[in-house]
Amino acid sequence: MYFGVDYYPEHWDKNRWEIDAKLMSEANINVVRLAEFSWSKLEVSDNQFDFSWLDEAIGVLSKYDIKIVLGTPTAAAPKWLMNKINAYPVDIHGIQKGFGTRRHYCPNNSEYQFYSKRIVCEMVKHYKDNKNVIAWQIDNEFGGRCFCDNCKKEFQEWLKNKYKNIDNLNSAWGTVFWSQEYDNFNDVIIPSYPANEGFPASPYNHNPSLVLDYYRFCSDSIVKYQKMQIDEIKKYTDQPVTHNLMGHCGELDYFDLGKDLDFVSWDCYPCDMWSSHHYLDVSMAHDLMRGIKNKNFWVMEQQSGPCGWQHFGKTPEPNQIRLWTYQSIAHGADAILYFRWRACSFGIEQYWYGVLDHDGIPRRRYKEIQKIGKELKEYGDLLEGSQNINDIAIIKSYDNLWSHTAQKHNWQFDYTNYLMSWYFGFAKNNVGIDVTSNNADFSKYKIVCLPAFNLVSKEFADKCKFYVENGGTIILTFRSGIKNEDNSMTEQILPGYFRELAGVTVEEFDSLRDGITNEIKGKFGHGKAKIWCDVVSTDTAELISEYADRFYKNTPAITVNHYGKGKVYYIACDLDDDAMYRLCSYIIANESIEPIIDEKIDGVEAIKRIKNNDEYYFA
Ligand code: GLA
Ligand code: ZN
Repeated sequence: MYFGVDYYPEHWDKNRWEIDAKLMSEANINVVRLAEFSWSKLEVSDNQFDFSWLDEAIGVLSKYDIKIVLGTPTAAAPKWLMNKINAYPVDIHGIQKGFGTRRHYCPNNSEYQFYSKRIVCEMVKHYKDNKNVIAWQIDNEFGGRCFCDNCKKEFQEWLKNKYKNIDNLNSAWGTVFWSQEYDNFNDVIIPSYPANEGFPASPYNHNPSLVLDYYRFCSDSIVKYQKMQIDEIKKYTDQPVTHNLMGHCGELDYFDLGKDLDFVSWDCYPCDMWSSHHYLDVSMAHDLMRGIKNKNFWVMEQQSGPCGWQHFGKTPEPNQIRLWTYQSIAHGADAILYFRWRACSFGIEQYWYGVLDHDGIPRRRYKEIQKIGKELKEYGDLLEGSQNINDIAIIKSYDNLWSHTAQKHNWQFDYTNYLMSWYFGFAKNNVGIDVTSNNADFSKYKIVCLPAFNLVSKEFADKCKFYVENGGTIILTFRSGIKNEDNSMTEQILPGYFRELAGVTVEEFDSLRDGITNEIKGKFGHGKAKIWCDVVSTDTAELISEYADRFYKNTPAITVNHYGKGKVYYIACDLDDDAMYRLCSYIIANESIEPIIDEKIDGVEAIKRIKNNDEYYFA
């Protein structure tokens, strides 16, 4: 199993490198990621390349049998390049970013693409035959959206390609509303500067269809930029290529980004300066990372110290790094690299501690990692490649995320949190979960959970029907089937394409606010809704729970419909955490899903992995 660190040899004097390599090797480290962000040292001026220092660093590490993942350095372009071209991205308010941090480029800038391709090409030509280089990482943590003029032009091309003629766009977006009709594609705007300026509700926000298409376009732009680099690498070598993703980050469609990668890797910071994430929040991110390709992944940056840019999160307590490491492995990590080998004395990440402190002296965290390294030397090969085979899939859709973000339905509604509440409900019952895309093969699951799946095409509804007819169980919830894929409301009776499947009609709804809540009582016990209640009537569905309050008192809150050989649950309202847990227990019992271990202890997570018919249990 690969076990390593993210290492920036260029941050220290050369005569330290050997000491580092020796210390790494004594901690059982066998891989490092290098070179990411080092463009100015690799291409010292236009077309002048210098790989000598990197060769030397790789040489030193190789003496200790440490393998290399090479990062392409395009997330931090050097000053000489940015002086030459106008590739700084523009934010939503039209302000252009300048030099001095990272990710300061527009992915649609053709000159930037030219220079990116060239540095990647030179790197790969230089290292393609180096036996110590085992993989490539493209750029660093893709994300962000650019609103520059060039993106606008590219967006117009993207639209032309999608809609073919402007009438199709006008009708898909409903531009007849408020005289937004376009005569040609060159006129189409981008959704920059929403006039709401921070207020969540305003008539001056842009057309939701425009917003959704722009977000799709921005995501496609990054996917394309990444693909350009991958293609360049693949011309010269078949070494695997990855990118370091960011867990729950929602700025681009990770399922699209993952398609071109040989494997997914991600950066896992369970306790950063923003918060100490609940352990199930981290587990869900792992499961999503595995769900991108339905394949094991790497943790390219595993937190290994207290960290923050301007202020710190908590210091990992003794054995906490070890706990995080095994949590990652339990959820499908086939390799762990800690960020970072040693804290850097300068730059904005001075406070980002790693395995070693600024003084380079091995202390508690080093010893802990050394211990993990020893354990993985013994067990790593047994665990590597083992599979998480689960009966339940929670479907995440970036289109749905963006639609729910543009229009939240209720001030308190958040799509990501809502998915998480389902994840927590199931995970607390000790069942394994896949978090994956609506394009996944549903047939391998007993339950497919589609929280707030609002953008629905006929094709997708047919896929769901086929799955249920053949014995699958689907969970649908409020705010499902209400829109088409252009982000416009359906004129069908709700829940739209899901209606026959769910066997219910949504007659009206109650968006809860001003502290109003509603009680739910029924077969799984009591619960409380505080965001949203659909008022439904049953067509063919049976009642599980009903509302105890409000003008729709005693009407259905949760139903189940038998359809073909399968079942469809309709959950008409949000539920508090405890009720969610009990509802999930009820559903799991009904669908005959066995918990991984029977005993449920708050704070203890149970995960099972399988390899060659052997079962590995993690608690
Ligand atoms: C991210 C990046 C790293 C580093 C760490 C800590 O995960 O990939 O380069 O910036 O965060 O900030
Ligand atoms: Zn741009």
